[in-house]
Amino acid sequence: MTEKHMILGIGLANNFGIHPAAWRLPDVDPGAYVDIAATVRQAQAAERGDLHFIFLAERLFLHGDLATEPPLFNMDPLTSLTAVSQATERVGLIGTASTSFNEPYLLARQLKTMDVVSHGRVGWNAVPSYEPDAFANAGRQLPPREQKYERLHEALQVVHALWGSWGREAGRPDQGGMFADPAHIRPVNLRGEHVGSRGPLPVPPSEQGQPVVVMPLSSGYGLQAAAMYANVVIAMPMSIEQALEQRAIVRRAVKAAGRDPQEVRFITFAGYEVAATAREALDRIRAMDELRDLRPSLSRLGNMLGLPIEAKRSDAPLTAQQLAMMNPAPGHAPSQRAARLARERWSPRDILAHGVLDPFPSVVGTPAQAADHLQEWFEAGASDGFLLNFASFHHGIDAFVDGVVPVLRERGLFPEHDEKPRTLRERLSLPDQYGLDPRVSSSAD
Ligand SMILES: Cc1cc2nc3c(=O)[nH]c(=O)nc-3n(C[C@H](O)[C@H](O)[C@H](O)COP(=O)(O)O)c2cc1C
Repeated sequence: MTEKHMILGIGLANNFGIHPAAWRLPDVDPGAYVDIAATVRQAQAAERGDLHFIFLAERLFLHGDLATEPPLFNMDPLTSLTAVSQATERVGLIGTASTSFNEPYLLARQLKTMDVVSHGRVGWNAVPSYEPDAFANAGRQLPPREQKYERLHEALQVVHALWGSWGREAGRPDQGGMFADPAHIRPVNLRGEHVGSRGPLPVPPSEQGQPVVVMPLSSGYGLQAAAMYANVVIAMPMSIEQALEQRAIVRRAVKAAGRDPQEVRFITFAGYEVAATAREALDRIRAMDELRDLRPSLSRLGNMLGLPIEAKRSDAPLTAQQLAMMNPAPGHAPSQRAARLARERWSPRDILAHGVLDPFPSVVGTPAQAADHLQEWFEAGASDGFLLNFASFHHGIDAFVDGVVPVLRERGLFPEHDEKPRTLRERLSLPDQYGLDPRVSSSAD
C-alpha cells in the first residue's frame, strides 16, 4: 500500500551541505564541521517542518580533499544523533553504522540506548562497508563481496535477537523489590561464521520497542538481507521507471522472505534548491560553483552530451552547431536531461547548476516546481517518500520547510502537524516489532 502522505527526511552530512563549496558562503561559519549546534539547528529546522527524520550516512575513513573542501561526512553519526536527540522532540534520527567492523553486541547496545534516550526515534541504516580505505582503517583488506554480506546478514540477526533479549514482559522497576523480571531477560546464544553473541543486552525496550532498520537497495545476498530485516529500503533511482523497477524487486524479495511487502517503506533520494524564481535558485548554486574549479564538472557534462565544453565559453548557450552534434546516451536520464536543458538554451554553467551531475534527481527552481516533482514521483507509486539533499544546509532546509512544505500541505500530500508525540516507527506507519521477526527467524537459522 502506498502511504497516503509522503514521508520526508533530510540527509545531513558535514554541517555545510553536499555542495563542496557550501562551507565558503559568506554567511556560513567555516567552523561548522565541528559545531554540534549547527547539526542541532538543521534538525530543529526539519522538526519545524514536521519532517519525519534526519539521516546521517557515514564512511569509515577521511573522505574529501581537505586542501579545498571539508570532509564530506559527519565526524561520527551516532554520537551526533545522540546529542541532537536531546535538543529535539519529534524528528526521527537515522544513523548509519557498518556491520563490517563493529561487534553486533556493541551495535545493538549503542543503537538501542540511543533509542531509549530519544524516546523511540532512532533508525539504523545498516550497511556493510565497501571501500578498501575503510578496511585499511581496521588494518584489513576488503573481503569478497559475498563475505561482507554474510557478515551483515549474521550481524542483523544477532542485533535483532539482542534487542529482543530484554523482554517487554520484564516490566518496570518496582520499588517493592523487583527491578525487572529475570525470567524475561534471556541470552540469545547465537554463533555464526563471522559474529555471534551470548546476550542478553542491558537495555530495556524503548517507546518504539527497538530501532527502525533501514537498509540500502542492493542485489543478491544484500537484497535478501534487506528483504528479511529492513523496515525501510533506501535507493537512488534516477527516473520514475527505474524507481518502479527497483521497488518491484524489493517487494518480490520481501515476499520471498516471508514478510508482507506493504510493511516495508521504499524511500528514494532527491535534491532540491528552491527560491522565489528559478533564476534565483540557479544563482544560489552558481554562487557556490564560482567558489570552486568547475572544469572537472564541465568535462563530465561534455562527456554526457558527447561533445567538448570549453570553460571559457561555458556561460553562453551551446551554438546551433554544438546542439546538432550532441549525442546523449539514450537510456541515461541525467544525459537526456542535460541535453534537454541545452536545447532550452541554458548555458553549460546553468545546466550544471540544475544538478545534472547529482547522483539522484534534482530540482532547482520554485517551491511549486519542487512540489510538482515530489507529487509526480509519489503519485506514480515510485516511492513512499524522499530523502532530501541540499546543496547548502544553511539555506536549503529552511527554504524547503518554508516554501515547499506549505505547497505539499495545500495539495493534501503532507500531513498537518500532529501534536501527539510519536515514535519513528509510528510516524512511518510501520508495524510493531520486538526482537527478530518470527516470520524470518526460522528461515535465518
Ligand atoms: C542509498 C544508499 C545509501 C548508502 N549509504 C551508505 C553509507 O552511509 N555508508 C556506507 O559505507 N555505505 C553506504 N552505501 C553503500 C552500500 O552499503 C553498499 O556497500 C554499496 O552500495 C556497494 O554495494 P555492493 O557491493 O552490493 O555493490 C549506501 C548505498 C546506497 C544505495
